[in-house]
Amino acid sequence: MAFAGKVVLITGASVGIGAATAINFSQLGASLALTDRSGQNFNAVVEKCKPDKTFVVGGDMTNPADVKNILESTIKQYNRLDVLVNNAGIFEHGTIENTSLEQYDRIFNVNVRSLYYMTMLACPHIVKTKGNIVNVSSVVGIRSFPNILAYCMSKSAVDQFTRCTCLELAPKQVRVNAVNPGVIVTQLFKSGGMTDKEVEAFYENAKKTHALGRPGDPIEIANAIAFLASDAASFITGVSLLVDGGKHAICPR
Ligand SMILES: NC(=O)c1ccc[n+]([C@@H]2O[C@H](COP(=O)([O-])OP(=O)(O)OC[C@H]3O[C@@H](n4cnc5c(N)ncnc54)[C@H](OP(=O)(O)O)[C@@H]3O)[C@@H](O)[C@H]2O)c1
Repeated sequence: MAFAGKVVLITGASVGIGAATAINFSQLGASLALTDRSGQNFNAVVEKCKPDKTFVVGGDMTNPADVKNILESTIKQYNRLDVLVNNAGIFEHGTIENTSLEQYDRIFNVNVRSLYYMTMLACPHIVKTKGNIVNVSSVVGIRSFPNILAYCMSKSAVDQFTRCTCLELAPKQVRVNAVNPGVIVTQLFKSGGMTDKEVEAFYENAKKTHALGRPGDPIEIANAIAFLASDAASFITGVSLLVDGGKHAICPR
């Protein structure tokens, strides 16, 4: 899995899965374009990447002007784009009885609409390099869970987006895949309103809900993303690759 000479754009790369993905791609030789909302929180990531091959640009993915600026400044910086990792996302609890249209819009704007627009803009550049796209979905895009309704639906949309765009871009030799993580230890749940105690209990419970008996580490997702983006996956397109310690296979008895 060598990425020397390749440019990889990763959204939501300041922490969690995006940060691990950035560091991993850097170690594999890639030049990076990294984003989060502010562009101010990258010290810890950039320290572990090659500074001369790491470009940071802030922008809110729900703002189309910011998305456009992220893409255009990446192209200005490197003059090419080989891999787009659509990773930025948010999580919130909510059932059909207590959700709101505001929650639906908030989640879909970040998890679906922004990825849709970023991919639209990136397409001509990725077609030019015959590159590829990796979307960060979730096991919840494939399996159903209560009390995270809008989040589950948003990740199903990401999986369908992956399959449809895979068909549209395959004639141009562009691959599109998704990774579908199980529970991974990041800030996602705390940012989504859970208390420290609730997050701790959730991770403890993950020992039962994942066949491998534990939640995952961001590097385990970063490794799968690098594989799908690499030539080692040259005949793989349109897949939603579960990287979930067997969570999808568990049925309560
Ligand atoms: N952790 C899990 O268990 C898990 C499981 C399955 C799937 N996933 C998916 O994996 C992806 C990464 O999640 P994570 O767990 O690494 O979460 P995280 O640690 O909370 O990181 C989320 C990243 O997305 C960025 N982001 C959020 N909203 C944004 C916006 N409006 N504009 C720009 N950037 C934005 C954040 O930037 P700021 O710092 O600016 O907020 C941050 O860099 C998400 O799509 C998530 O749904 C996670």
